[in-house]
Amino acid sequence: MGNRVPIDLLIRGGQVVTAAHSSYPVRGRQMQELHIVDQGWVACQGETIVAVGSKETLQGKLDITDQTQIIDATGQVVTPGLVDPHTHLIFGGSREDEFYLRAQGADYMAIMEAGGGIASSVRATRKESLAELVQSGRQRLGWMLNMGVTTVECKSGYGLDLETELKQLEAVRILQQEQPVELVSTFLGAHAWPDEYKDDQEGYVDFLIHTVLPRVKEEDLAEYVDVFTEKGVFSVEQSRRIFQKAKELGFKLRIHADEMNTLGGAELAAEMGMSSADHLLMVSDQGIQALGESDVIPILLPATAFSLRKPYAPARKMLDAGLPVALATDFNPGSCPTANLSLVMSIACLYMAMTPEEVFHAVTINAAHSLGRSDRIGSIEVGKQADLAIFAVDHYKKIPYFFGVNLVTTVVKQGKIVRSDGKR
Ligand code: NIG
Ligand code: FE
Repeated sequence: MGNRVPIDLLIRGGQVVTAAHSSYPVRGRQMQELHIVDQGWVACQGETIVAVGSKETLQGKLDITDQTQIIDATGQVVTPGLVDPHTHLIFGGSREDEFYLRAQGADYMAIMEAGGGIASSVRATRKESLAELVQSGRQRLGWMLNMGVTTVECKSGYGLDLETELKQLEAVRILQQEQPVELVSTFLGAHAWPDEYKDDQEGYVDFLIHTVLPRVKEEDLAEYVDVFTEKGVFSVEQSRRIFQKAKELGFKLRIHADEMNTLGGAELAAEMGMSSADHLLMVSDQGIQALGESDVIPILLPATAFSLRKPYAPARKMLDAGLPVALATDFNPGSCPTANLSLVMSIACLYMAMTPEEVFHAVTINAAHSLGRSDRIGSIEVGKQADLAIFAVDHYKKIPYFFGVNLVTTVVKQGKIVRSDGKR
């Protein structure tokens, strides 16, 4: 190396989980090949990773000055900043009463049909001001960042009217400007039927297509459009109409697919070339096959199955069929009120028979790929953005194992230390 590279931040001595491969997403046998550098160095300049490797290969080649910040990660694990590609971050109120009703045996969809569920969060979200939604969103992003999550997808869908849907998306825009977690905004106006359109479903679909979607586009408030395609919610036909319009307007697509019933959401995702198909608890074999013939990322949300006490998505079938599985929390006030992506990794191992190597790819590079960002984040590689998490254990296999425990000591976002518990 002729010119030595001046280093702003050097993290040295940890077990570095790079999650790097030659192309993305990661699938098949590659999911088992988690690339590691033991006692590795990660060097950053500005917001970019400029060197990754062992001490032996890098020592003497890097320009380490008095200005270089050094983190001693000896005995710790360094991973790419975690990516949570499916959350309902912004909502008013909370639904702990339903949580305990469900704990006593009440059914999630039955609560929804009786006027609770999503509708109850819609009432609460409509009442809250933009400032209140920003405030609670800020607190929740703090929880996530503390757990090593540096990129979060956020859906609207608790407004179901023009004003409140825009208010939710505006809250995401404000939060993006004031805190370090990168946010990816998704419009989910098709999340439930609003009371105003209970007896006129086609009218609501028309309203979304002709009024809300063009406005969201005009104000550049979302990158993705999502629909809750489910029995009693949006049919496959209604979903297809919304997605078609969204596509015409230039949005990318994600879908709540085959969550409670086998409706063909996975097939629709493949047909329409969506970025992701999420949930998939009830996906059929044909649905898995259709996904396998497409570029759609299946995103599994096992903490939702855990919370709803429903059967888990057939992760093994999908992985063994070569699908590039990703994982997310589904953080929301109803079906899954946890923001803990590490817990999701543990549940994925315990209840979906995923290996630790698979879950690390699923919450880093494959999650990033589902958000169209695998060229920039999701792995530790030269040239990529320096988004990193450091965990207080000496082997990556101990991270899902100590389930429910937050092991994160340090978080780096775009080359800056944004969380640190002071350990050096
Ligand atoms: O992904 N399934 C639909 N939407 C959310 C739940 C939203 C809620 O209960 O508030 C989900 O599980
Ligand atoms: Fe969801």
